[in-house]
Amino acid sequence: MYKIAVLPGDGIGVEIVPEALKVLQAIALRFGYEFEFNEALIGGAAYDAVGHPLPAETLDTCRNSDAVLLGAIGGPKWDKLPVQLRPEVGALLPLRKELGLFANLRPSVLFPGLVHASTLKEEVIDGVDIMVIRELTGGLYFGEKKREQTSDGGQKATDILSYSTFEIERIVRFAYEVARKRGKKLCSVDKANVLESSRLWRETVNKLARDYPDVETSHMYVDNCSMQLIRNPRQFDVIVTENMFGDILTDEASMLTGSIGMLPSASIGGEVGLYEPSHGSAPDIAGQKKANPLATILSAAMMLRYSFDLEEEARLIEQAVRTVMEEGYRTPDLMEEGKTLLNTEEIGDLVAAKIRIL
Ligand code: NAI
Ligand code: MG
Repeated sequence: MYKIAVLPGDGIGVEIVPEALKVLQAIALRFGYEFEFNEALIGGAAYDAVGHPLPAETLDTCRNSDAVLLGAIGGPKWDKLPVQLRPEVGALLPLRKELGLFANLRPSVLFPGLVHASTLKEEVIDGVDIMVIRELTGGLYFGEKKREQTSDGGQKATDILSYSTFEIERIVRFAYEVARKRGKKLCSVDKANVLESSRLWRETVNKLARDYPDVETSHMYVDNCSMQLIRNPRQFDVIVTENMFGDILTDEASMLTGSIGMLPSASIGGEVGLYEPSHGSAPDIAGQKKANPLATILSAAMMLRYSFDLEEEARLIEQAVRTVMEEGYRTPDLMEEGKTLLNTEEIGDLVAAKIRIL
């Protein structure tokens, strides 16, 4: 039996998460497993109920589970709260840190049938299949921050970017292991021409490269990488990079493949992995059954793969999603002429049905 903490959150989170549970249930039935779902509050929903976006109980539920499935959090209703109580800062960052989730995986895969959903040309994006691995608990976002008054009456603000060999080694080793199971190419992205932390990063990658002779290692400066992702994305297999570079590059990479509603993510490294769609709570469409649940369903597939080592089951979910797309069923974010428009639940039902018959 697998214990899964289920954190729908707010906004469209409460609409998309049930669809992923449906799909996991279909997997359980077909393969004879049992998933125990333990639901807990997070984000705006938690703030409204108990006054904090990440209640201690929720953290306990996560720690006592084998994996966490998260919907999305945040929205205008909670934007004016003090920063530590805002869903993203008060819940997402501490949840990642508390669970020791140092590796964030974001695949950018172009699904057949969705080539026209991207703003880029078909010949550029056709066949794109990139895995970006972003370091998630170090670097600039977690470094010391301060403000000082300056003698000229102004202010000075400081954010520190630092990485230890230990932090670099564990994310890079992780990336090599992923590359080994994919296209055997690892591109490490840094700014080693300018930053000392990047120079240590690059030295560490070169040292570890000797342990992975079967994987082709390359280095790229982050500014060049942001250009290459648009110019020729097919050159990439696995990209590994530090926290802030990864934050920016993953948003860029997501647009290669069309709708953000298709993009899953996995955050791993601790005992409990966290799986969530890459998008936010989409307040503009919340409550209207328009949200695309596929990013969350594909996140559940990543959970099976990375937390439970259920590769066949993960692939079946991905195949089911592909089939539903190929058959022309779409939520509004992907709608084009000649396709069939469905709502959030109907798409979830179809994917679950495919799992029974594929
Ligand atoms: P967003 O990702 O929520 O929405 C951006 C656009 O994409 C909107 O037009 C939305 O309708 C659309 N969209 C997003 N997910 C979709 C889906 N599954 N199906 C169809 N369309 C979808 O980003 P935005 O608007 O910048 O942020 C909204 C709130 O979400 C903010 O409070 C933000 O801080 C929060 N947020 C939360 C995240 C999380 O929970 N991990 C991540 C990013 C933002
Ligand atoms: Mg971001």
